[in-house]
Order: sequence, then structure tokens, then C-alpha cells
Amino acid sequence: MSDNSITSRLYPTRIDIPAEARVQIVVLLNQTLAATSDLKTQAKQAHWNVKGTDFYQLHLLFDELAGELEEFIDLVAERITALGGYAFGTVRAAASNSILPEYPLDILDGKDHVTALSDRFAIYAKHIREAIAKTDDLDDLDTADLYTEVSRTIDKRLWFLEAHLQVAEIKEENGKTSTTKTQKTPAAVK
Ligand SMILES: [Fe+2]
Repeated sequence: MSDNSITSRLYPTRIDIPAEARVQIVVLLNQTLAATSDLKTQAKQAHWNVKGTDFYQLHLLFDELAGELEEFIDLVAERITALGGYAFGTVRAAASNSILPEYPLDILDGKDHVTALSDRFAIYAKHIREAIAKTDDLDDLDTADLYTEVSRTIDKRLWFLEAHLQVAEIKEENGKTSTTKTQKTPAAVK
């Protein structure tokens, strides 16, 4: 949904936030709505298709993530309408307006699903943090507060996801460091 004339449509309202600011906020919120809806379906995709020895705990975790994102969808869409905007909440609108990459449909293993979701939660977290600053600049502290609430939860969930990966990543990092050292030693001797 790249047509801003549609996503920025405003209805008459008595709210005291200037229309010029509300147009920009509604466009931003519609981007967030699309990304949130996209991410929710990606978490569900992982919930349904994950395999491996950690199946059950990941199956439950991914469903918790999807449930939280479902609540954010409603929060974001209703903020759009409270500002006099039109919420574009269909799956097709989400698909055409989301900032996230498509979810890999061929993965099975728990670690691959955790990695795919971590990558996407990180992109989403960045979008949300930038939106806090943008809405703050536009003097809409209520929307900035909404984004702050979402941001705290998403950062926490990114931690939950990445905690599954960090032991292996630290070991890999340490392995690289020791390899570098052993490679450097002969060069230094020369
Ligand atoms: Fe389920």
C-alpha cells in the first residue's frame, strides 16, 4: 500500500492534534500496522511448522509472540482511527506495505526458525524505535507512548529469541578469535 493519498486519508474529527501532523502519523501507523500483521503471521508460521528436540517450548513461545503482536495490531489500528485516519488492516494491505522480508517457507529446525524470527524482530524493533522519535517530534506523545510500550516488549522478545542463539554465536566468535591469533603468530615470527 504505497499510495499515500489512500493511507493518509483523514475523517473529520474534533481531536486537537493538527491535521498536518495527523496525516504523517497515520501514514507511519499504517506502515506499523502492515509490519505487525506480517510479523504476527510469520510467528504463527513458525509456531505451526517448527520441528526438532526443542519443538514444544518453541511451539509455545512462537504462539505467545503471535498473541502479543495480535494485541499490538488492534492497538495500532485503533490509534489510527482515533486520529481520524483509515486503518488498512487486511492481509493484502499488510503484504504490499510491510517492511519485513518474506518468511522462509522451507525451514524446519528450531534454530532456523529462531534465527529467522530474530532477524525480523530486529528490523521491526528498529522501525518501532524510530517511530517513537518521529511521533515525539510531531508532538503526539500518546502515539509515542504507544510505540514505547510496543518497543519495550519487542526488545524483551528479541532477547528471548536471541538467548537461544547466543551460546553458539559466542563460541563461534571465540573460535574466530583464536583462529586469527594462531594465523597471526607465524606471520609475526617472519
Ligand atoms: Fe496453535
